[in-house]
Amino acid sequence: MSITDIQTSAAYVAPEAPAHPLSSLSVVEIEAVRTVVLGWPDFTTTMRFAYVGLEEPTKGEVLGWDAGDAPLPDRRARVQLLDMATGRSTDSIVSITTGETLSSTVLDGSKGQLPILDAEFEDVGLILAEDEGWLAALAARGLSIDQVVAVPLSAGHYGYVAEEGRRIVRSFVFRMDHPSDHPWAHPVDGLTAYIDTADRRVIEIIDTPGLAVPETHGNFDDPELQGPPLEGLKPIVITQPEGPSFSVDGEHVSWGNWKLRIGFDMREGLILRELSFADKGVDRPVMYRGSINEMLVPYADPHPNRFWQNYFDTGEYMFGRYTNSLALGCDCVGEIQYFDAVLPDELGMPRTIDNGICMHEEDFGTLWKHTDIFTGSHEVRRSRRLVISFFTTVGNYDYGFYWYLYLDGTIECEAKLTGILFTSSFPGDAEDGTAYPFASQVAPGLGAPYHQHLFSARLDMTVDGLSNVVNEIDAVRLPVSETNPAGNAFTKKVTPIMSEAVSGRVADGAVNRVWQIASTEKTTELGQPTSYVLFPTETPTLMADGSSSIARRAEFATKNLFVTKYDPAERYAAGDFVNQNPGGDGVTAYIAGDEPLVGEDVVLWHTFGLTHFPRNEDWPVMPMDYAKFTLKPYNFFERNPTLNVPAPAMSDHCSAGTGHAHESHSAHDAGHAHESAAHGAHDDHASHGHSSHGH
Ligand code: CU
Repeated sequence: MSITDIQTSAAYVAPEAPAHPLSSLSVVEIEAVRTVVLGWPDFTTTMRFAYVGLEEPTKGEVLGWDAGDAPLPDRRARVQLLDMATGRSTDSIVSITTGETLSSTVLDGSKGQLPILDAEFEDVGLILAEDEGWLAALAARGLSIDQVVAVPLSAGHYGYVAEEGRRIVRSFVFRMDHPSDHPWAHPVDGLTAYIDTADRRVIEIIDTPGLAVPETHGNFDDPELQGPPLEGLKPIVITQPEGPSFSVDGEHVSWGNWKLRIGFDMREGLILRELSFADKGVDRPVMYRGSINEMLVPYADPHPNRFWQNYFDTGEYMFGRYTNSLALGCDCVGEIQYFDAVLPDELGMPRTIDNGICMHEEDFGTLWKHTDIFTGSHEVRRSRRLVISFFTTVGNYDYGFYWYLYLDGTIECEAKLTGILFTSSFPGDAEDGTAYPFASQVAPGLGAPYHQHLFSARLDMTVDGLSNVVNEIDAVRLPVSETNPAGNAFTKKVTPIMSEAVSGRVADGAVNRVWQIASTEKTTELGQPTSYVLFPTETPTLMADGSSSIARRAEFATKNLFVTKYDPAERYAAGDFVNQNPGGDGVTAYIAGDEPLVGEDVVLWHTFGLTHFPRNEDWPVMPMDYAKFTLKPYNFFERNPTLNVPAPAMSDHCSAGTGHAHESHSAHDAGHAHESAAHGAHDDHASHGHSSHGH
């Protein structure tokens, strides 16, 4: 190994340090990284850049840095390189400030491979076209190579000796009847190739004859299939005549009481950083970093041709690099602020995805409202949210990731799923009439195997600082007893998650289970710890058997929550090198040290998503499906923090929140006395006096 002792290239010119230590890598910084790598004596022209990203300074370094300070002394990038000719893979840290290579490791493959490159995916078609066995298997089905397209996918890890230490992909094949024919409608099922992309050869073909190729096309963009346009839809136009309410300085955003930074990475896509909420003039920290750090799509069909079908779209495919360039009026409507996404291509050259990240404000209905039967007060406020999102296309599926910030301090993250189902040849009903139990039939003879979409949100929380604890809170039913004679009592049980080893938790809607991230230092005036609460939405865990390969590789998905003590090296729920990883990395390794968690700097790993039994309506293109979670302030404030949101501007008629409205109360009261009579039992209480108003 020689590249660790490379001298700084004489030609190296350091780019200017960015405004903030967490600024996303710029075009000139990516160019600088490439200059460093090309200066390595053992650099070869067959090397490709699998990953280049900001090697973030530690949280301590960043929090110790204030705007206006000198830049941190060393700006660093992480660089992962694959030699296409040999499969040799390296993981290095490069100083952008000095041009030095600070560390470099050669991967032996025993703990996983670098992600699959586009160049490898492209090679698969060429490799298959030259393989006699593949051509013969196609011919046996009456097909030639020019009638089909290969769909290569990540291989997983099944302990095959022939695959150890080699770069493997497995490929399905689909028939494509003309240049605008979507091949997903015509799976040539029962035929799979295992390919060594470095050796450029097929190492095995799994051939299970007898499955028909479905014939009905699925061309959702065919005007004939679409039919005559639906009539009667009038335009919806969103205008903000005075412009949006946010202000943007580079990647820094202020909106309402929120402040945050926006970041982009070719692996994780959108990253939200350093979120704080201003309260009485003080910016109170809430979350240091939030991202979708991993996602898994495991399939349920045990058929010999597809039992291995599981995609880690972040770790194996780097879904950030497939970020869409968004279009105004199509992907986003209203007053939109776009951020470009900058990333390297596989030759290490900077590539800019214009308008990769979209930010805008949305009206979100009623924020709060009350019409009071006693005072006549009638107040209503409008809710709005700041939406920050990106869309990525990973093969057949298209995923949107939307973060919402609300005026009341709530944070939501929503995954949106659309695109095209992964398809199979539907085997038909068994002789006893039972349907095939692992796929839906969505068109004649066309199957859509059951699967899950499991997203891992890495939530590096800083609720009022670095000293936090995570409590699991369940609603608890209490039995009839002397103190609960009517049996109506229920209460809540608060269980602190004491250490990493016991942090694996499963959502349970039946007991209203939530996870509270509480400060162990700050309290409200009432003495409660200030906190945020993670509300999971009805959400699955991994369905695959606990002994399966995928369960070992994706322990994060076997639970809805893990909690770890902050460690800058612990970034990805399934580990750094997910492709062909045998398991045991990621969260599994992160919790092995069983660090105590009370009063510590905590990171939450929240798995949320969907179990998808496809339906006819999902074909030939899926209407949007959704999965989400919510983080709400919980005793973070002394009271509703949105009392000062102004009443709707144009509407004397919908709010009594002004002085002149109070003057009119007596008139309203007269009306109320009349209305109250109609309220029945409730107002009988009211007539006894205002003190009994609660209900
Ligand atoms: Cu799905």
